[in-house]
Amino acid sequence: MLLLHRAVVLRLQQACRLKSIPSRIYIQACSTNDSFRPQYPSLTFSGDNSSTRGWKVMGTLLGLGAVLAYQDHRCRAAQESTRIYTKEEVSSHTSPETGIWVTLGSEVFDVTEFVDLHPGGPSKLMLAAGGPLEPFWALYAVHNQSHVRELLAQYKIGELNPEDKVAPTVETSDPYADDPVRHPALKVNSQRPFNAEPPPELLTENYITPNPIFFTRNHLPVPNLDPDTYRLHIVGAPGGQSLSLSLDDLHNFPKYEITVTLQCAGNRRSEMTQVKEVKGLEWRTGAISTARWAGARLCDVLAQAGHQLCETEAHVCFEGLDSDPTGTAYGASIPLARAMDPEAEVLLAYEMNGQPLPRDHGFPVRVVVPGVVGARHVKWLGRVSVQPEESYSHWQRRDYKGFSPSVDWDTVDFDSAPSIQELPVQSAITEPRDGETVESGEVTIKGYAWSGGGRAVIRVDVSLDGGLTWQVAKLDGEEQRPRKAWAWRLWQLQAPVPAGQKELNIVCKAVDDGYNVQPDTVAPIWNLRGVLSNAWHRVHVFVAP
Ligand code: MTE
Repeated sequence: MLLLHRAVVLRLQQACRLKSIPSRIYIQACSTNDSFRPQYPSLTFSGDNSSTRGWKVMGTLLGLGAVLAYQDHRCRAAQESTRIYTKEEVSSHTSPETGIWVTLGSEVFDVTEFVDLHPGGPSKLMLAAGGPLEPFWALYAVHNQSHVRELLAQYKIGELNPEDKVAPTVETSDPYADDPVRHPALKVNSQRPFNAEPPPELLTENYITPNPIFFTRNHLPVPNLDPDTYRLHIVGAPGGQSLSLSLDDLHNFPKYEITVTLQCAGNRRSEMTQVKEVKGLEWRTGAISTARWAGARLCDVLAQAGHQLCETEAHVCFEGLDSDPTGTAYGASIPLARAMDPEAEVLLAYEMNGQPLPRDHGFPVRVVVPGVVGARHVKWLGRVSVQPEESYSHWQRRDYKGFSPSVDWDTVDFDSAPSIQELPVQSAITEPRDGETVESGEVTIKGYAWSGGGRAVIRVDVSLDGGLTWQVAKLDGEEQRPRKAWAWRLWQLQAPVPAGQKELNIVCKAVDDGYNVQPDTVAPIWNLRGVLSNAWHRVHVFVAP
C-alpha cells in the first residue's frame, strides 16, 4: 500500500511538474526510517501556504489526466531500458539542462525529475550527479532497502557500457568503518548510523547505567577526535571575547558532577507504530539511561565569553563535530535563560560515570541539559553561540516536535509547533517481559519512572488487571532534589498473584510532583514522528499452572 501510494504521489508530481508541492509528501513517501532524517536540509521544506496549496490542487487536477499516460511512458521506458551508455556520457549529465544522471552498479538512471523530490533535499542527491550513488549510499545505509531500489528503478534509462563496469572512480570507503566497537548486549535498531538500546532487564539492573550499555542515538558516523588538538569554540558576546578552549582549559573551570537521565524523544515509539505507522526507528522501552556526568557549567563558560542573560529572547546554539558529506553538522539549541541559570545545571561534560566520555557518547565533550529531551544534549561539541533565534539545524526545526494525531505528512507544518525541550512524565515495566510466564504465588514487577524539567516522580501505580485496581510500587534509587529531579527512580512491586489467575495484564503509570500523569492509551497521543510516547505501559504475561 505504502509503495503504491509512494509511486502514485511521485508520478503525480512528475507529471504535473508541481515544484510547489511541499517536499514533505516525499518524506512520507520515501522514508520509513530515522536514518533518512539527517539528509533533510533545514529549510528546504518550507511551510505550506495558501497559494502553494492552490497550485497543488490545481496542478493535481490538471495532472491527473497525464498520470496514466506518464505511467504508460514509464512502463515502456522500462522495457526499452537496455540502451548502453558510456561513463563519459553519464558524467556529462549533471545539471537540469543536460539532465541529471546517476549510476548504481551497472544501471543508469535519469533522476532529473526526482532531484527536487529527494527526501534528503536536492543538494544531497546532486553530489552524486554524473557518477555512482554507492559512496553516498554507504553513508546513508537506509538507501539499501527494497522500496528505495524500487523507487529508483522507475528512473532507469539503460545500462553502463560493459567496459565501464569497473569499480567506481569515487572511493566507496565506508564512513562508518571507524565507528567504535559496541557491547553485544545492546539491541541494535540501526547499524549505520548506530542506534541501540539496552535490553529491559539490564536497563534497571543498576541505578546508574554502565557506559557500555547506555543507549546510543547517532545520526551520523562517530567522529574520531584527538583530545590534544580538540578545541571548543565559544562565540563571544558583543564586547566580550570569543574562546577557543582546549580540554585542559575546560578542566580549569570549576568541576560539577550530577546524575542525569537522558531520554530520546522516540523512546517507546514501537508502541505508537502498533496504532498506526510512524516514521522513525523502532525504539522499545530502552531509549533512556542514567549516568553521572561531570564537567564545566555552561553558564560559567558563557559568562567568560561575556554573555549574560538578556531581556530579549535568545538561544544557545550547539554544533557537533559529526557531519554529513556536505559538511552539515548535527545541531540543536536551548533557550539562553536555561543555559545561564546556574540552577538548571547545564554541563559541558567531559566525564561519564567517572570515565572520559566514550566515543559513542560524545568524546571528548558533550552538552548535558538536565530534564530536557536527549536531542539537545549535543555530542562531540565543536561550537557554541548565542543567537536571537533557535538553531537552524534540521533536528531543531524539522524534527523532534509533537503534533496532533490528525496531522499527517501532507498537512504537517513544522513551524507551527515548538521544539521539544522538557519531556513529559514517563514510566515503563522492565520485568517481567511481555509474553513471559511468571510463577504463581507472587510476582515481582520492576521498572523505571522519570519526568522532565526537574519534576520528581512522587508515585508509581501498578495494576495486575489492566487498570481496574492499583497498587503503589516502592521507589528505589537516589532521592531527588526539589525542582532538580534530573534522574529517574527505579521502582518495584512484589504482589500476590490472585489464585486461579492464568494471565495478568500488568500496567504501570507514574505521577510527578506537578501531579502530571501518563495518558492511558497511545492512540490519542499518536503523532507522525512517534515522539513523546508515554502512555501507560502494558505487559501481558502468563501464570505457570
Ligand atoms: N549530538 C550529535 N552531535 N549527534 C547526534 O546524532 N544525537 C542526539 C543527542 N546528541 C546526536 C547528538 C540525540 S537525538 C540523542 S537522544 C542523544 O544525543 C543520545 O545521546 P547518547 O547517544 O549518548 O545516548
